[in-house]
Amino acid sequence: MARPGMAEQITREDALTREGYRHAGHIMLYGDSSAKLFGKIPIKHIVLMQMRFDGLLGFPGGLVNPSKETLEAGLSRELHEEVGVAVPVGVDNHVSSCLSPSSPRLITHFYIKKMTESELKEIERAAVTAATDHGLEVLGMVRVPLYFLKNGGGLPYFLSHSFISNSRAQLLSALQHCRLLSQGELEKAVRQAEQMRR
Ligand code: GTP
Ligand code: MN
Ligand code: MN
Ligand code: MN
Ligand code: MN
Ligand code: MN
Repeated sequence: MARPGMAEQITREDALTREGYRHAGHIMLYGDSSAKLFGKIPIKHIVLMQMRFDGLLGFPGGLVNPSKETLEAGLSRELHEEVGVAVPVGVDNHVSSCLSPSSPRLITHFYIKKMTESELKEIERAAVTAATDHGLEVLGMVRVPLYFLKNGGGLPYFLSHSFISNSRAQLLSALQHCRLLSQGELEKAVRQAEQMRR
C-alpha cells in the first residue's frame, strides 16, 4: 500500500508493459574501503552520488528509451555521459522500479552495483576528465559520508541536504539492503537530520 510521500513500487516487468510512461534509470555504485578520515576514522565504504545541475543531490543515470535499448544498456549509456565510464549494468543489479512521486508518467528504475576501491577511484577521476556532462548537467561526484562525528557531522548533515525525487529514500534503503550501516545507525542518522532541518 502506498504511503503518503512514498513512491509506489512496481515490478520491472510491469513497468515495461505500461504505455505512455517515460523511464529513467539511476544507480548506486559502491564498494569497500580501508581508508581512514584524519588517519583514524574508518570510512568503511565508498558510496557515490552526484551534485546535479539543479543543486540537488542524486544518483548518476538518466532517461532511457526502452523501445530503443534495454533499461540496463540505457543506464550504462547515461553513466558514460555522466561519469565518463560505460559501467556495465545487468538485470541482476536491478533493485526497484517505481512511479515517480515528483514527475507524472515517469517510472524510475534503481540499481546497485558493488565495485572495487580502485574501480571507484577510476570513476571519480573519469567523471572529471572524460565525462561530457562534467560541469554542465553534473557538477561533481560526491562520496556519501557514512560515519558520525560530533554535532551531526557525517551522515546526518549529508541527509539534511536536498535530494532529487525519491533519491534520498533510495539511498537509505540501499544502505540497509547492502548492510553498510546497522538499522540503529540509519535511524539515528535520519533522526538527527530531521532535527537539523527544523
Ligand atoms: P538526459 O537528459 O537524457 O541525459 O537525462 P538526465 O540525466 O538529464 O535525467 P535525470 O538524471 O535528471 O533523470 C530524469 C528524471 O529522473 C529527473 O527529472 C528526476 O525526476 C528523476 N531522477 C533523477 N535522479 C534521480 C535519482 O537519483 N533517483 C530517482 N528516483 N529519480 C531521479
Ligand atoms: Mn584536512
Ligand atoms: Mn542524470
Ligand atoms: Mn544524463
Ligand atoms: Mn542523456
Ligand atoms: Mn538532461
